[in-house]
Amino acid sequence: MRKLLVIGIGAGNPEHMTVQAIDGLNRADVLFIPDKGARKNDLAALRRQICDRFVTNPKSRRVEFDVPARAEPSPSYRATVDDWHEAIAAIYESLIREELSPDGCGAFLIWGDPSLYDSALRILERVRARGNVDFELEVMPGITAVQALAASHRMALNRIGDPVLITTGRRLTEEGMPDNAGSTVVMLDGKCAFNTLEDEDLIIYWGAYLGTPDEIVISGRLGDVGAEIEKLREEVRQKKGWIMDTYLLRKPGEPEDS
Ligand SMILES: C[S@@+](CC[C@H](N)C(=O)[O-])C[C@H]1O[C@@H](n2cnc3c(N)ncnc32)[C@H](O)[C@@H]1O
Repeated sequence: MRKLLVIGIGAGNPEHMTVQAIDGLNRADVLFIPDKGARKNDLAALRRQICDRFVTNPKSRRVEFDVPARAEPSPSYRATVDDWHEAIAAIYESLIREELSPDGCGAFLIWGDPSLYDSALRILERVRARGNVDFELEVMPGITAVQALAASHRMALNRIGDPVLITTGRRLTEEGMPDNAGSTVVMLDGKCAFNTLEDEDLIIYWGAYLGTPDEIVISGRLGDVGAEIEKLREEVRQKKGWIMDTYLLRKPGEPEDS
């Protein structure tokens, strides 16, 4: 049976690669590399750089594929995502059938970790459910952007005994800062949702291009640094053509400071 390795490659620094991930890359006959289009060429370049640096298996091949762009979110966000996943499932299915021999091994290189805001595992289950190709799945964890953020700010994610919530910019805008989450990590935020919050005393720990040579980190009271982050974010986004940023929000001074 075909074997698929879903390998977390870390969130921007090739040195995030685990020994298990490097071994996985070298077990695969085919490495599947998504190319999300010109704007995010840097991300495809990092995947290539990881392969150049760590793949020593002379028999492995790289297969690059285009990921279709998601349609603008409609009133039904889930329906938009569903259509998008179906389109990607069709691409995955043909890659698996056409590029892998019946007992071949392929690897999907997943940004950060496959368990966090990534749909590869869900899409592969969809491929399996379509019933046209079968495979075994093995998942190798990677360093997430959340861990990279905490490391760059030299901080623990949680306060003592407190929970951590991971959410999206869209939900932060719609729901505000959750009351019961000691620390809230926000990902997938294209619109600086932190600036929609009323509490200017919140502390923000922000990071962009984490783990890469372009990494920027800023922290401080939201009322003091929120506007500065938004301005800088737009400047660097324009300059590079894309941005990925993640941040943590928490109320000041509780509970371990009390
Ligand atoms: C589709 S999610 C993928 C998350 C990934 N699976 C992980 O484990 O980190 C993309 C979001 O991850 C965050 N992200 C990924 N890489 C990042 C980086 N190098 N610096 C800052 N944020 C990053 C951003 O919030 C971005 O919008």
